[in-house]
Amino acid sequence: MTKKQTILVTGGAGYIGSHTCIELIQAGYQVIVVDNLSNSSQESLKRVATIVGCEPVVFYSVDIRDQQGLEQVFSEHAIDSVIHFAGLKAVGESVQQPVAYYDNNVSGTVTLLKVMQKYAVKQLVFSSSATVYGDPQTVPIQEHFPRSATNPYGRSKLIIEDILMDLQQSAPEWQIALLRYFNPVGAHSSGQIGEDPRGVPNNLMPYIARVAVGTYPQLSVFGNDYPTPDGTGVRDYIHVVDLAKGHVAALHAFHNPQVPHLLAVNLGTGQGYSVLEMIKAFEQASECKIAYQIVERRAGDVAACFADPQLAKELLAWQAEKSLVEMCADVWRWQQQNPKGYR
Ligand code: NAD
Ligand code: UD1
Repeated sequence: MTKKQTILVTGGAGYIGSHTCIELIQAGYQVIVVDNLSNSSQESLKRVATIVGCEPVVFYSVDIRDQQGLEQVFSEHAIDSVIHFAGLKAVGESVQQPVAYYDNNVSGTVTLLKVMQKYAVKQLVFSSSATVYGDPQTVPIQEHFPRSATNPYGRSKLIIEDILMDLQQSAPEWQIALLRYFNPVGAHSSGQIGEDPRGVPNNLMPYIARVAVGTYPQLSVFGNDYPTPDGTGVRDYIHVVDLAKGHVAALHAFHNPQVPHLLAVNLGTGQGYSVLEMIKAFEQASECKIAYQIVERRAGDVAACFADPQLAKELLAWQAEKSLVEMCADVWRWQQQNPKGYR
């Protein structure tokens, strides 16, 4: 019997990480999670084990900036590859606390890379973001489009991408996938795990869900004067389970000799929806009225952002499959079953 591949998942207790753990375990991987729980709860991993029907997920409460702590993990397990989700992700907070963002995201990644080098682990899947395209001149966005940053969070992703490109160039045996996510939404179809933002959500979908359960009286729609069909912002919403599967596809691609050792790939659906279309879709899924008012544009927002998903299809043999109806229905199930998230 061949040995199971062991994958270290940093930030694995978080929203995308926990969904990815499910897909990894179901695909036959051994999963080790490192997370400092700064934006998550270990409860998500307990539920992962319940959903999959497996032993408790191996978990280390370690900060990725803690080199000794990370080295202990690498010394206790023969890790084959790393999927690196750990990071801070709130754009507004990053403008207020840039040093904390560069420390956590950039220094944390550098520490992780040092430990990977020391233990000769040379396969890495990194959570990048469509934010690296800044304000795109045209849509759909292709991977060769110019990159830029409009805030410290986005700049931390750009810097990490550059570090990883430099590393791969210096050591071509490294295999690195930069996965640029568009807008992850949705929840596991069991309703047991989902997005659990702390405090007031910054993103559209969790905010809509909280209006639907009555936590907030109404949604503020940030501008209706964009050059889009109905004037509201257009985004490429992708179901988190599709996104999670994209990570398994990236690991598989590492074993395909046709695939280059450095990949930068969009993970999106290729389909854009406006804010008003999202409200309508959620109303249909939940049978709740979503009250909203139009307010000023949010600083830093772009009019339209959606992916050309073709490269992921070619290189990873992956494409998003779940519809907007499923995204909304799954968020609604999670929100209803867990009105207070994991608490
Ligand atoms: P999340 O906050 O739910 O998950 C991130 C996890 O990393 C959390 O569990 C947090 O506790 C952990 N973490 C943070 N800093 C850490 C550190 N120093 N050491 C150890 N653990 C740490 O966020 P998510 O939505 O699951 O995002 C995962 C990754 O994907 C992030 O890197 C994020 O920037 C990126 N991303 C997210 C989105 C999105 O909309 N959710 C879009 C594009 C990219
Ligand atoms: C935001 C982040 C981006 C990150 C992405 C995915 C900002 C400026 N950008 O992008 O860096 O990669 O999330 O996590 O925060 N909207 C409302 N009302 C709300 C919330 C959102 O109208 O209460 C609108 C927005 O103007 C936008 C759309 O809904 O048109 C989606 O917003 P959001 O979910 O925050 O995602 P992004 O703006 O794409």
